Amino acid sequence: MSDFHALVPAAGFGARMGHESPKQYLPLAGRPMIFHALATLCACEQISTVFVVLSPEDTQFQLYDVSRFGSKLQPLYCGGATRAESVLSGLLAAELEPDDWVLVHDAARPCLTLDYLHKLIDELRDDAVGGLLAVPVADTLKRADAAGRVLRTESREQLWQAQTPQMFRAGLLARALQQDKEVTDDASAIEALGYQPKLVACEPTNFKVTYPQDRLLAELLLNQKNK
Ligand code: C5P
Repeated sequence: MSDFHALVPAAGFGARMGHESPKQYLPLAGRPMIFHALATLCACEQISTVFVVLSPEDTQFQLYDVSRFGSKLQPLYCGGATRAESVLSGLLAAELEPDDWVLVHDAARPCLTLDYLHKLIDELRDDAVGGLLAVPVADTLKRADAAGRVLRTESREQLWQAQTPQMFRAGLLARALQQDKEVTDDASAIEALGYQPKLVACEPTNFKVTYPQDRLLAELLLNQKNK
């Protein structure tokens, strides 16, 4: 039977947050942001290892006490110049079996819940391709011109926003990422090989902390969850 592993790319800087410190370490509800996702992934009984892919220059991760995560957590100091390069480099360093499932999750999505993690695994464990958590687009979509004026309204029918975790077989994902190191998520690389990843419905609360104002919302949600 194939194993399940999580891989958290955390070698980015997060320039859009406008901070000196990499965004995964910004304090959020009393802990560095990355700790929230690591805690949820480590608490999932189906997942046997949680790899966290750090920049080779990272000096911060080792300053924290990560003993609470136990032996499941394995830091890998092999991040690359893009998210895709970090994931690929982590996959190669982790030396997984080609058929093992890997759940790639952004360090900057701290509000992932165990319920949705279980839902993703349950819906995909027998799937031929794999897939991802996502939410159907709710707002009306406008295409803008260079001056910020509406060119036209786009249909939102059958449009989804991709989230993470994204769950694929380690061998297939490594092959896909070797072909394209610029993709912004893992599913895009799989799609480029001609596969159709499955969309597993999640909630907007599993958003990525990207802009300074996102931190406040994430903090409210995490404080509510931890009550
Ligand atoms: O910058 P963005 O929010 O799109 O990053 C998504 C995830 O990819 C973050 O967890 C970030 O740390 C990671 N990343 C990485 N290596 C890079 C760039 C981003 O691991 N070179």
